[in-house]
Amino acid sequence: MHEDVLKVQGLDVFYGTSQVLFKMSLSVRKGETLALLGRNGAGKSTTMKAMAGVIAARRGEVLLHGKSVLGQPSHRIARAGIGFVPEDRQIFPDLSVEDNLLIAIKPGVNGENDWSLERVYDMLPLLAPLKDRLGGQLSGGEQQMLTVGRALMGNPNVLLLDEPSEGLAPIMVQKIGDLIDTLRKVGTTIVLAEQNLHFCLGLADRAVVIDKGADVFVGTIRELNADEDIKQRYLSV
Ligand SMILES: Nc1ncnc2c1ncn2[C@@H]1O[C@H](COP(=O)(O)OP(=O)(O)OP(=O)(O)O)[C@@H](O)[C@H]1O
Ligand SMILES: [Mg+2]
Repeated sequence: MHEDVLKVQGLDVFYGTSQVLFKMSLSVRKGETLALLGRNGAGKSTTMKAMAGVIAARRGEVLLHGKSVLGQPSHRIARAGIGFVPEDRQIFPDLSVEDNLLIAIKPGVNGENDWSLERVYDMLPLLAPLKDRLGGQLSGGEQQMLTVGRALMGNPNVLLLDEPSEGLAPIMVQKIGDLIDTLRKVGTTIVLAEQNLHFCLGLADRAVVIDKGADVFVGTIRELNADEDIKQRYLSV
């Protein structure tokens, strides 16, 4: 049997009076990379934020290793093992790269200590020579790397990456792809929100497609890539 690290069931989310998620459901198995695909405004970030506790859900359930985390504040959810890399990155501009990383150190929920500063620099070699640079002086791609590094410092059980390739130059997109590939090879469980199916093809195991706030497809990334109808209807390909 597969072990679900993270499971979302029947999530309804509202912004004010307007509903944006409708019975959204997904599950992520240990060690897999799940792509969360959908067009602009489909509800990918809202789903990620609801899982991370950044926004509240009105109905539904978010289970981490079978235990409900719904309704807990985001810092508690982070401590429980969900590492969130938001689309707007949110690094500390006045702190050095190294201090941005050090401030995020925490053991995993079961005391895991897999990610040291040294290992994060090994995983993200681009950051090591920048360790004394201020966060605010980094390029977009460097900031993206730093945000991933910061999430890893918290020894998460599952890493949520919200459009990590967005707005980056092709060379940085390639580097982010390589990073995700390396992370999954060392067994990291990942949810990767993306508009770009192509970016996910070599990286993800399974995919959930979301449209107008609801999950409309779930399957392997290969099944999705072979499904011209779903791609035409719900993705910009
Ligand atoms: N703070 C907000 N207040 C009101 N509506 C919002 C807010 N944030 C997002 N929405 C709306 O919720 C819907 C889902 O947005 P969301 O950001 O989750 O989509 P997305 O799939 O992440 O899109 P993108 O690919 O552009 O990042 C959209 O219709 C959006 O306009
Ligand atoms: Mg988004």
